[in-house]
Amino acid sequence: PHQWRGVIAEYADRLPASITEHVVTLREGGTPLIPAEHLSELVGAQVHVKYEGLNPTGSFKDRGMTAAISDAARQGAKAVICASTGNTSASAAAYATKAGMECGVLVPDGKIAMGKLSQAIAGGATLIQVRGNFDDCLTLARKLAEAYPVELVNSVNPARIEGQKTAAFEVVDALGDAPDIHCLPVGNAGNITAYWKGYGEYADPRAPGAGGHAPASRRPRMWGFQAAGAAPIVKGHPVDDPETIATAIRIGNPASWPQAEAAREESGGVIEAVTDEEILTAHRLLSSREGIFVEPASAASVAGLLKRHAAGQVPAGATVVCTVTGHGLKDPQWALKGADGSDVDPVRVSVDVVSVADALGLE
Ligand code: F0G
Repeated sequence: PHQWRGVIAEYADRLPASITEHVVTLREGGTPLIPAEHLSELVGAQVHVKYEGLNPTGSFKDRGMTAAISDAARQGAKAVICASTGNTSASAAAYATKAGMECGVLVPDGKIAMGKLSQAIAGGATLIQVRGNFDDCLTLARKLAEAYPVELVNSVNPARIEGQKTAAFEVVDALGDAPDIHCLPVGNAGNITAYWKGYGEYADPRAPGAGGHAPASRRPRMWGFQAAGAAPIVKGHPVDDPETIATAIRIGNPASWPQAEAAREESGGVIEAVTDEEILTAHRLLSSREGIFVEPASAASVAGLLKRHAAGQVPAGATVVCTVTGHGLKDPQWALKGADGSDVDPVRVSVDVVSVADALGLE
C-alpha cells in the first residue's frame, strides 16, 4: 500500500534538518496539476491549474505550516501565534492541534471568510479579532513573539518558505520541466518568494535529482497579481486602507515585498493588479468552464493571465501554470451571484416528474 506522505517526507532531501527531524504532518501537498482546456483555448497556450484547495485545510498554507510546526515541535514549543486573513489561521489551528500545541490567531475584525473563521475555531485556536487590518495584526504578532514564549508561524518564519517551495517541485515533477510562465496571487508575498526559491533549487545543477541531473533545465517567468485595491508592490508604496473582495490578499504592506520584487526581476516577470470584477470573472470561469471551485483571491492568478492575454503578452503555445491557492468552499457566497451581481435563486418545484423535467428543460 502507498499513499502520498506529505511534503516533508516526499522532499526530505531538499529540506533543512531543522524541519525533517521531527515531522508533524497531515499529508499535505501532492495536489493535482490540472490541464485547463477552456483556458488554454482562450489564451492560446498550454494552461495548467495547480489546485491548492485540495490540501488538508483547503489552502497552500499547509505546505508551509507542516514545516513551521515541525520546526517549532523540534524546539519544544508549547504555543504558536500568527496573523492571518484566514487561511494561515485555519492551517495553524489544525497543525498546532496535531502537534499538541496551543494556537493563537490574530485576524482583522469582520474581514475574514466564514469558512476560515470556522476552521480556526474548530481547530481549537484562540481567535482574536483585531480592530485593524492584516498589516496591524502582523505587527502585533511579531511583537508578541519577541516578548512572550510563542513561536511566530507567519511566512516571515523561514520554515514556512521552505515548506511552500515544494509546490514548485511538484509542478516540475508533473510537467517534466519548469513551465514558461507561472501565475499566482500575491498578498503578503511569501508564496511567490517560496515558488521562486523552489524553482531555483530544482534547476541548480549542483543539487542534482535522482537521475544525477537537475530536475528542471530552467526557471519560469513569475507573474504575480495583486488585487487593485491592495496593490502596494504595483504602486510602489504601502497602501494604508487595502480593500478588495478577495479578503485573503487584502494586504497593504507585504512582509516579503523585497523578495517578491527579486522574483520578478530575476525571472523577467511582472507584478500587476487585477480588479475585483476581473477576479470574479475568472472565479466564475474556473468553476463553470473548468470544474475548479476556488476562493476569490485564488482566481487572481487566472484573472491576471486573461488580462495579459488581452494585452497580447502571452506567447503563443507557452506552457503556463496558474496556482489557485484556496478552496471555493472557504468563501462560497461569491458563487451565488450572477455575472450582473444579482442573487442566484434556485428553482423550487413540487414532487412531480413533469415539473422537474420542465425545470431542467428536458423535452
Ligand atoms: N491566496 C490565498 C487563498 C491566501 O490565503 C493568500 C494569503 C494568498 C493567496 C497570498 O499569498 O501572502 O503568500 O502572497 N493568505 C495569508 C493568510 C495572508 O493569512 O492566510 P501570500
